[in-house]
Amino acid sequence: MTSRTELRQLIRHRRQQLSHQQQQQAAQALAERVCQWSGLEDCQHIALYLSNDGELDTWPLIHALWQRQKHVYLPLLHPFTSGHLIFQHFLPNTPMRHNQFGIPEPDWSCPDLMPVAQLDLIATPLVAFDAKGNRLGMGGGFYDRTLANFAGQSADGRARLMGLAHDCQQVDAIPTEAWDVPLPAICTPRQIFLP
Ligand SMILES: Nc1ncnc2c1ncn2[C@@H]1O[C@H](COP(=O)(O)OP(=O)(O)OP(=O)(O)O)[C@@H](O)[C@H]1O
Ligand SMILES: [Mg+2]
Repeated sequence: MTSRTELRQLIRHRRQQLSHQQQQQAAQALAERVCQWSGLEDCQHIALYLSNDGELDTWPLIHALWQRQKHVYLPLLHPFTSGHLIFQHFLPNTPMRHNQFGIPEPDWSCPDLMPVAQLDLIATPLVAFDAKGNRLGMGGGFYDRTLANFAGQSADGRARLMGLAHDCQQVDAIPTEAWDVPLPAICTPRQIFLP
């Protein structure tokens, strides 16, 4: 089996090769697919992320959720607990800053923070996934640490965690580690996997 490091390189390269037009079409198709997902109705507080490194552009989805009066949250590097993320409310006029990785995040504002357990849905970025819901991220372990105690499904079986990815990020099998948090749902421009 290909190692995790090799898979990351391969799939990151693959998504970076997508043209601007392919990226735009994928982002639009993904937004429509998430909005058609039957579970969305029950989700008011939804965490997303701002894309980088060829990740699927989440802006069309963020705008679609705002239009539907959903509350959108973005991750910030936790200021005290190294390696963890916290989530903060995100509006069109939220002041932003660049974190230590050069990724824009909302300017820290305590009243706007949302405890992870109270989010109805957390959409995660990923580098590669397989049809069983295994997820390979960029290698920082941020989502794995943050979601270690998060219930991936609601009491009625709806997914509370959803990976977002281009179809070309699917691989046959991800070599997993004990700490990897699996995904109960993965949405691509073409389909929703519910492993
Ligand atoms: N729950 C955890 N507690 C402590 N360390 C963890 C935990 N989860 C992951 N790690 C550490 O994080 C490192 C990176 O993990 P991994 O390779 O799975 O990252 P990833 O899933 O690609 O990244 P991310 O979660 O940021 O998308 C590993 O060395 C692992 O030891
Ligand atoms: Mg992991």
